[in-house]
Amino acid sequence: MTTRQLQDLIEKMSTDEKLAQITQLNPVCFGFPYITPLTGPDPGLRIDRNLASSIGSVLNCDNASDAAAMQKAHLQEDPHSIPLLFMADIIHGFKTIFPIPLAMGCSFSPSNIEEASRIAALESSVSGIHVTFSPMGDLVRDPRWGRVMESFGEDPLLNSMLCAASVRGYQGADVRQPYHIASCIKHFAAYGAPEGGREYNTVDMSRGILHETYLPAYRSALQAGAEMVMAAFHVFDRVPASASPYLLSRILRDEWDFQGAVISDFNSVGELIAHGVARDGKEAAEKAISAGLDIEMMSTHYMENLNISLQEGTITEQMLDDAVLRILSLKNKLGLFEHPYKDASPEAEKKYHLCPEHRAAARRIAGESIVLLKNEGILPLDTNSLLGLTGPFSRSPHVLGGWSAGNTEGVSLYEGLCGKIPSSRIKINEWGEAGSALEENSDIDVIPEDLIASFRDCPIVIAAVGENQIDTGEGASKTVLRLSPHQEQLLQVLSEAGKKVIAVIFSGRPLEIFPVLPYCAAVIQAWFPGTEAGNALADILFGDVNPSARLSMSFPYTVGQIPVYYNHFNTGRPRVPSAPPTRYISAYLDCPEKPLYPFGYGLSYSDFIYSDMKLTQGEGGTGSDSKGLTASITVTNASPVDGIETVQLYIRDMHASVVRPVKELKDFCRIFIPGGEARQISFRITKETLSFYQTDSFLFDPGYFEIMIGKNSEDTLSETIYIDETFIGKQEKEMP
Ligand code: BGC
Repeated sequence: MTTRQLQDLIEKMSTDEKLAQITQLNPVCFGFPYITPLTGPDPGLRIDRNLASSIGSVLNCDNASDAAAMQKAHLQEDPHSIPLLFMADIIHGFKTIFPIPLAMGCSFSPSNIEEASRIAALESSVSGIHVTFSPMGDLVRDPRWGRVMESFGEDPLLNSMLCAASVRGYQGADVRQPYHIASCIKHFAAYGAPEGGREYNTVDMSRGILHETYLPAYRSALQAGAEMVMAAFHVFDRVPASASPYLLSRILRDEWDFQGAVISDFNSVGELIAHGVARDGKEAAEKAISAGLDIEMMSTHYMENLNISLQEGTITEQMLDDAVLRILSLKNKLGLFEHPYKDASPEAEKKYHLCPEHRAAARRIAGESIVLLKNEGILPLDTNSLLGLTGPFSRSPHVLGGWSAGNTEGVSLYEGLCGKIPSSRIKINEWGEAGSALEENSDIDVIPEDLIASFRDCPIVIAAVGENQIDTGEGASKTVLRLSPHQEQLLQVLSEAGKKVIAVIFSGRPLEIFPVLPYCAAVIQAWFPGTEAGNALADILFGDVNPSARLSMSFPYTVGQIPVYYNHFNTGRPRVPSAPPTRYISAYLDCPEKPLYPFGYGLSYSDFIYSDMKLTQGEGGTGSDSKGLTASITVTNASPVDGIETVQLYIRDMHASVVRPVKELKDFCRIFIPGGEARQISFRITKETLSFYQTDSFLFDPGYFEIMIGKNSEDTLSETIYIDETFIGKQEKEMP
């Protein structure tokens, strides 16, 4: 249909029908007996039955038969035969579950994210889904917040690249094509910075940090073509995001020229009352639609009130028509007017869900997302080893993590190990519980006497520990990030009994593992690896896969350091390693100010050595890219083991009009280097690379820059250079 035809259609719709069109409810409201968990209050159906037939979209229907039945009934009843749009939370896979996004972020691989999203789109499209509420572009710095698992991490560049890749994977070149779905980037904006890491809490930050650090990922998703945006729950700059003219109109529409539909989060329109910016549902609805919020999810304040608001003139017909046009345009783009069932097909569900090709991709991507944090030469394991296996995740299938689209089981670690060595060589004694902060502490705090005895013949014991997957995701903020006391005790007792302990840690966030490091000969950060968890872990443990993942989020020594992230500002009194110790610096008395493991950190079975860093000036490229610098380095794999290294470029603007971070990731290169070989890696540095947010736009400030290349945000080689307005760099050994 053309836009003109869509506008003609809107002209024929009554106001009530338009309001229903911009309302989203779950299948229960359509008479389907769904028992999907709700992440907010159940709206019931306080609307006229007749109007239910004009509702525009459905939340979280999860199979082709129901979607088709709902669509069929709807098309018969809707006076204009406008098809329903089915939207759902497909976060890290639909049936084939991939690692949690925070883990996939560790792969530093846009192609992995694109592939996982493509498969998720295929599997969900055949189940009748048209839009996913993903990716989550919220940058995160506080692991107390349960939703860090849904983010690609703490870095704006990595986040931006991976969000864009995710959108490409979901949408393909054209969402109308079979097996593609539209992407809704969320939660606009800066939802990942709640005070104290407490869910739904206030966010307060400077405009500079907002633009430079928190907004780029959403923007990059939109530049990649994301069709929708979800407004967030929280208060930003004293205004709830769902009714923020600054976020929804000024930034999204005016500055970024976004033409697609903006949806509320679950009942976030109703929550304007609790926030204290609306007296009642009517005022809440008026404020939200006036700010630019097109669709109301899981509450009916628009439907119940905006008719009256129109009559009173508090809102205009144009606002309503604009919102309706945006959702109809998306339906049109998806081809739903011609093909209302799009890809929904029970046969295709059987063919594609969890098919071998998808599982193979999940296994490979999980292998590239699991981070090796510590290795005292014990890994990889020898297939002739006699292994002990203990801990609550030994045989647990609950390894998918939050937001797993209703799936519950993946390959357990034990099953994965059995795929590599005969079960007779694995002594399993799965003591321990993955306790949840939601439950009473269990009473199993005394390690059974026979536990150590059962590992008599095993010099190496794998302890599969971590947090319960229900402690991750929405509504899962925590203040204690340590392993449970009995898990910590388990590691200690094993170590004191002389065992070489390999801790495999399952979690949706960086945990506080510093206290147990002395007991572990190796530590593998598994995250929640998804459907193929056990197989991917076994690949790493036995060296069939050489670990290549690098942390997408810093690990704190202790929760008291949080937020601790690599790209912080310098203070007026930073620690100067060469200066004599003094108390009056920006530090802690009882803990380092640096993280335990920094952003970008991760070990490999190869040994990569960096040398020969060079900066060269040169012309080349086009436009503002025509003058620039090239930073290059030689990376040698000094081991016989082939491996993938992620070479990272960081830059520090030494003096500028405003304070700049001590370093910022500006580029990276994931490169395979065969054992014994070396590769030269080059990065191009342009004006854009060095620009930062200065009152309304990104500009470059001439001056000194420190260019750093290394294997993580701490371990780098560096050169300092002066760059003037013409962008002709002049290398200086020392600054004046
Ligand atoms: C979450 C969103 C999600 C929505 C629909 C909300 O509670 O914040 O991320 O998309 O529920 O399930």
